[in-house]
Formats: sequence, C-alpha cells, structure tokens
Amino acid sequence: MLAPIFLEPRPLRFLEEAQIEAIRERFGTPVFVYDQRTLEVAADRVVAFPSPCHLVGRFAMKSLPNAAILRIFDARGLHIDASSGFEAERALLAGIPPAHIQITAQELPQDLKGLVQRGVLFNACSLEQLRHYGLLFPGTDLSIRVNPGAGSGHNNRTNTGGMASSFGIWHEKLDEAFALAREFDLRLSGLHTHIGSGGNPEVWKRCAGLILGIAERFPDLCRLSLGGGFKVARVEGETDANLEEIGQAVSPLIADFLTRRSANSDDFQLEIEPGSYLVVNAGAILSEIVDIVDTGSDGYSFLKIDSGMTELLRPAMYGAQHPLYVVAHGSGRDGEASRDCAEIEYVVAGHCCESSDIWTPAPGDPETLAPRTMARAAIGDTLVIEGTGAYAAGMSAKNYNSFPEAAEVLIDTTGEPQLIRRRQTLDQSIQNEVPIPD
Ligand SMILES: Cc1ncc(COP(=O)(O)O)c(C=O)c1O
Repeated sequence: MLAPIFLEPRPLRFLEEAQIEAIRERFGTPVFVYDQRTLEVAADRVVAFPSPCHLVGRFAMKSLPNAAILRIFDARGLHIDASSGFEAERALLAGIPPAHIQITAQELPQDLKGLVQRGVLFNACSLEQLRHYGLLFPGTDLSIRVNPGAGSGHNNRTNTGGMASSFGIWHEKLDEAFALAREFDLRLSGLHTHIGSGGNPEVWKRCAGLILGIAERFPDLCRLSLGGGFKVARVEGETDANLEEIGQAVSPLIADFLTRRSANSDDFQLEIEPGSYLVVNAGAILSEIVDIVDTGSDGYSFLKIDSGMTELLRPAMYGAQHPLYVVAHGSGRDGEASRDCAEIEYVVAGHCCESSDIWTPAPGDPETLAPRTMARAAIGDTLVIEGTGAYAAGMSAKNYNSFPEAAEVLIDTTGEPQLIRRRQTLDQSIQNEVPIPD
C-alpha cells in the first residue's frame, strides 16, 4: 500500500488510509466521517471545566445535530443548547431529557408553550420574546440572553456580540427587560451571553467580568451562561483553547461574585455552551476528485470534487480555512510508480455551478482564490477535508443543483464505521413538491 499523500507533513487527525478506502467503498462519496473517541475526549474536557459551583456544559447542537452525536454527548453528561424549536424537538426525539435542553433562538418556537410544558428551558433573546413568554407563563422563572456590548468574532459574519449583532437584549435595554419581568411577575433567574471569546484566558476573564457586572443587577440569579466560542485549531499555526486554564482564570471571579451575594455555591450553576470545541476536529469529509482542469500558464489548476457548498459552506461564507489532503485511491495507484511526488498549487472547486463554491479562498476573504500547495493529484483520488465536524453537515446549501444530502458515518470506539445518516435519494429531495393539477 502506498503511503497517503498529505498536503502538510502531519498525519490526518483520526483517519488511516485503509479506513478511507473502506469507507469510500462501503458508503460512497461525499461522506462525513466522525470519530467517537475524539468526541468523547472533548466532552470530558468540557464536563471538567473548573468551576466554583455546579457546572453544566451545553452542546450547541446546531454545530452537528445528528441524533447519534447528541446521544454520545448525553451519555457523557452534556446538556443541549437548541437554536430553534425544531432543534429542541429533534433533541427530544433523540431521547435527550427535556430538562437538559435549553432553547436560545432568533425566532420564537411555534410551539413554545408545548415545549416548555414538556420541561424544555427557554432563554429569551429579545424583549418581544420576553413579553411572549410572560404572556404564556406569568409568575415563573426565566433566563434571558443579553448582548453586553462586546464581541470578538473576526468580522460581522461571525460576531455574536456588540453593536453589529442582533443576538440578545442590548445591555442598555435591561431596564425595559426588568419592567416586562415585573409586569408578568417573572423571576429572571438565568443570564446568558455568548460573544465567542476565543482561546485566551485573559479575554475570557475580561468577558466574565463584563457579564458578572451585568449579573449584579439580577437579584434572583442562579444560572449564568458564558456561552461558547472556545477557539479550536483547525489549521497549522492555530492553538486550541485550554479549557482548564480558562476555567481557572474565570473561577475566582465567579467565586467572588457568589461571596458578595452570600450565595450558596451549591445553589448556583455556571454554564458553558461550546459547539465547535466539541466537534470540529472529530469530523472530516471524504470527497472524490472527479476532474482536474486548468486555465493556462497564467491561470489556475483546479481540482474538481464531488462535494462543495452542499456539504461545507464555511469557505464560501467566511473564507474559512480547512486542512486539505490528497490521498491516492485504488485505480489511481496503478500509475503511482510513474506519478512524481511534485507539489502543485491547486484551487479546489466544489461541484456546484456557483463561482463561490471554492474550498481554497484566502483566509477571511471568500472573494479571493488562494491556491494551496498539494501533492499532485489524479482523478479518482480522495480529497480529505478536515476540521469539518462543526457547521458542515448541519449547515449546508442542501440540495443545491439537486445534489442529494451526503451520508454521515461514525467511527465507533472499536474503530468500526457505523452509518448514522443515509445518503438522501432524489425522491426524498423532491418528496414535498406538489404537482399542479392539469
Ligand atoms: C447561543 C450560542 N451558543 C453557543 C454557540 C456555539 O459557538 P461555538 O460553536 O463557536 O462554540 C453559538 C454559536 O454561534 C451560539 O450562538
């Protein structure tokens, strides 16, 4: 067997060449592959986040909503952050206990009443949501999301706090929130922020300070969420957030806060809400290189693949960077002896008829092509794209150009690939179309 040809000198995070071949053979391409062991290690780190009081780690399920993944995290003690009523329903269908699900949504769930009556928690993200909840459930407890006026996304497409973000009740409008709470006799016992604070413990400390300043105004507070946004290293040169260090940095602030209000730490809950941290590097996409074209000596060499924005939108949306590896495949191997090991600069083009369907944009700049140096590829080889556990299968241009939704496979703890989502059929993709009677 030939050694895999990698773009970078390091090996793939969890896949072996033989596994890639076997998964391709059994499930076809494009296919999402997740690694259970990597998921469990990340879950255990979240659960162990240092805290001076009870800690709840919520998995932001929008990042990877497959039921098999939710169940793995549930078994590891994580709770769920749902971004819509539909996500909450999906988590319930996966068997997650209702009290372990909290909805933090831009749009009010259609059946908020039913969900809350079943025991799902709600986190009001606007004054309108707060009012609506108050009308449905006067005299009860509620959590609210506040935009504390700071954000740390690298552009307005990823910012989740500050003036350019619509998420949460603007901090200067808290008096209106308190007035509504009084009107409906609501106890504001939960405070939530998510501003995406990255990997630097000092930044987390500053954000926690900001949030605790706001928390002082909540006399009934017993649940405080710092949100998610823990940095994950996808490509070389980036560093993962160290949850242990961040927790150690933030804990004394929380402990002081509890002391100041003479609160019993057993009655107070700190929450964190990571999505990316839990799943990014536990996922990869396997795609077949279906064509190789170029636009002349002054132009570009393109690898065309059987995947694209139908599986991964992040490069087109944010100029996101993902590691890409060419791995030689079966029939391509016959000519392998004669295949030189030269490196070529390729632009990777997705299969959609859409010029923005490119997996090699310049960092943070989806408009600009940034060819990547990769080992020479042959048609039929596999392109492995890593760092695609989060915001990939769950966030795609599904069915664009009528491509069916790809399959999802989980490598279980015995190393066995298990199908966790079938490939969609064409019939399934058009099943809701209604013919106009003749
Ligand atoms: C409310 C909320 N919680 C958690 C997350 C998870 O963020 P990340 O995947 O960056 O950890 C997000 C992401 O935008 C969010 O909006």
